[in-house]
Formats: sequence, structure tokens, C-alpha cells
Amino acid sequence: MRMRKRHNLAPRMEACAGFLIEDPASLRGRWRESFPGYEKMYVELGCGKGRFTVETAQQTPEALFLAIEKVPDAMILAMERAREMGLSNVRFMDFDAVNLASIFAPGEIDRIYLNFSDPWPKSRDAKFRLTAPGFLRLYADALPLGGQIHFKTDNRPLFDWSVEQFTAERWTLSEVTHDLHAAGPVGVMTDYEAKFVAEGLKINRLAATRTADTKTTAAGPVPRLRNAALSDARGNAASEQPEIRLEEETLPLCHTFFRSLVQAPELFENPADYTPYVYDPAEVDRFFAARRTGETRRYYAILLNGDVIGEVGFKHIDPADASAEMEICLINDSVKNRDYGTRATGLALKAGFAELGLETVTAESLLKNGRSQRVLKKNGFQPVSADERAIRFRISKERYQQLWEGENP
Ligand SMILES: C[S@@+](CC[C@H](N)C(=O)[O-])C[C@H]1O[C@@H](n2cnc3c(N)ncnc32)[C@H](O)[C@@H]1O
Repeated sequence: MRMRKRHNLAPRMEACAGFLIEDPASLRGRWRESFPGYEKMYVELGCGKGRFTVETAQQTPEALFLAIEKVPDAMILAMERAREMGLSNVRFMDFDAVNLASIFAPGEIDRIYLNFSDPWPKSRDAKFRLTAPGFLRLYADALPLGGQIHFKTDNRPLFDWSVEQFTAERWTLSEVTHDLHAAGPVGVMTDYEAKFVAEGLKINRLAATRTADTKTTAAGPVPRLRNAALSDARGNAASEQPEIRLEEETLPLCHTFFRSLVQAPELFENPADYTPYVYDPAEVDRFFAARRTGETRRYYAILLNGDVIGEVGFKHIDPADASAEMEICLINDSVKNRDYGTRATGLALKAGFAELGLETVTAESLLKNGRSQRVLKKNGFQPVSADERAIRFRISKERYQQLWEGENP
């Protein structure tokens, strides 16, 4: 996750100094005596902006919460929340979980929370996932027998992969669910979780218990992680799938698109207006030329393994407020419901924010077009208004970066 640089980080850290543990290694093996009176010691790895941390700490005064985060620009928000809430049982560490053994002695902590850990979708990055075997062995060292890891994520491929790792590393799994909030909200939500639940995504959760059989670092080198590519939260596999790419639309690409276009009657606002599309080369020439005039539009052909399967683009590009409206059209039913539209939307957003300099992208979806609404939501668009005809969605560059930076759309 890339964070926007927070202003005045140093003075803000200073103001929250009481919550920061600057030299956690000096407390290794001495946490209990340094923080007496707590029944339990819970550690959260990757606390982000800390909603889960502070609300769980508030609800659990008998436990000490140690929140670890390697991005101080995120952690400062968590620390400020803890200060505003007047909590005394939370401390923060600007620290990388990979060095966990340097701050906790064997069996020193009671529970580890992993909430919405970065998925690292590419196979070659699998070792960085916080549920990779190398990390699980560090956790097994730091937990006593019966100690637990509580893991939540919206990312089903990461969850499934993690279940395999926990099982291979001989943790005992319980409370495994693919839809934690199916019957209403359960437990404290993290910042990411609250956003994802609002978008209708399902949350996976499990508890993993360390037993005498669980592998620790004493088990020696961790296995090599082969074929470990994941899909990201949008359902887009990072590799091992057909290639989807965008190419700036040229006249020949535009002709290829219209030549294959089969318009779907259900997408017409008024079904009575529907007439099948008939390719007319001269009309396409005129259409393309008209679209090219002015700088308010930018369109891309969507290519599947090199074949045009649709187009996506921006209209109403407004340089004054760096905004534009996105629209997408796939050529026919054979390329729908296969995530191609989701992936193409992700690529277009990337181009819009990175190359066109947009700060905000909007999109409109007819009320009856549930498929398009799902595609938009999967990419992080949020509904902002609706009427009896359509729903309007919006995504900001900041939100896009927070959700997808490091992903491979
Ligand atoms: C996707 S965010 C989730 C934040 C928060 N847990 C939530 O659910 O809202 C993942 C967080 O984990 C942090 N993180 C990832 N790897 C880490 C590591 N090795 N050590 C410490 N923090 C890490 C990232 O910096 C990021 O803030």
C-alpha cells in the first residue's frame, strides 16, 4: 500500500510519543515485566490506520495491544486515534514483521492478528505475504502452545492459499468462514474491512492455533513457494491467465470493434429503442473523426490475447478539476462474465490516474445493469447518487492508490 505523505509527521509523532515504542528489541523477553497487570498480550501485524487496533483495545482493557506497522504515514493516524480515545493499553512500533524474532522471546505473546494483509499477487513475491511459511514459523516461535493467529481478508485467493500454508505448517484451523458478516456484522471491523463490506464484498476469516506439532523456525529452511500466483481482490489473476491489455484506439482498431459489435437489447434504457447494430464503415469513419476532435475524450481498444473484444475510455475530460467519466463496452456476450471487463476497467483507471493526470473518475450505470455495477465496485468505485434511471459512481486517485497500489490490474 502506498500512502500519501502525511504533513508534519515528525511533530505529530512527537505529540503521540507516549504510544510509540522506539526500541522494541530492548524489551525482548521483558514485555510482561515492562507492562505489568495485563492478562494477555496481543500483537497486530500491519495495523494500517488502526481502526481495529484502537476499537479492540478499548473493548479489551485486560489485554495489552502491540500494533506493528512498517509505514509510519499510516501508523500516525492510528496513534492519533489512540490518543484521542485516551487509551492506555495500546503501543505502536514502526517495524517490519520480518524481524519479529528480534523483539519477542519464544512464547512471549498470546495472539497475533493479521487483518487484510497485502496479497502480493505475483508468484515471485509470495514470500512477502504475512501468511507465507517463513512468517508462520516466526509466529509459531513467538506464541505459546494454544496461542492463536486471527486472520481476516477479503481476498479469497490469498485466503485459500493461506489455508494451504497453515495446514502444511501444522496449525489447527477453526472458525473458518468465507462470509464472516453473512448474518450481520461480527466483531470490530478494520478500516479496509469497513470499506469492502460497504462495497458488498465478502470477508474471509479463520483462527489458527499453535500446537506441539506446529512447525517453528527450528524446523529448518522453509519450502520453496512454487506456482503461488494469486488473484487480486478484483478477482484478476496476476498471471497464468489470458492477457488483457489496452491500446490507444486507432481507426483500424475502431473498425475492428464495430465490425464485431453485437448490441445487447437489455442495455437499452428503453427496450423499445433497441435495433440490432449494423456495421457501416463510412459511419465508423465519421464517428472516429468526431471523437478525435477536442481533448475531452480518450478511448482505448481492449485486447484479449491480441484480439479486440471491446473499448473503454473517458469522456467529459475536464482539465480544470482533473475529472472524467469512464465508459466501457464489450463486443458481445461471449466475452462477458469472464472478468475481462473488470480487468479492462482497472487498466483504464491506471491509465487515467497515471497518464492522463486525473484525480477523479466517475461512471454511470443503468439501474438494471447489475453486471456493470459489480465491475465498478470490484474496482473500488463507490455509488454517489442514483435516480429512477441510473446509479452514478465515483473513485478518487487517492482511493485507487490505497486499494490497488502494488497490485497488478
Ligand atoms: C492492506 S493494509 C491493511 C491495514 C489494516 N490492517 C486494515 O485492515 O485496515 C496492510 C498493511 O500492512 C502493512 N504491512 C505489510 N507488510 C508488513 C510488514 N512486513 N511489517 C509491518 N507492516 C506490514 C502495510 O504497510 C499496510 O499498512
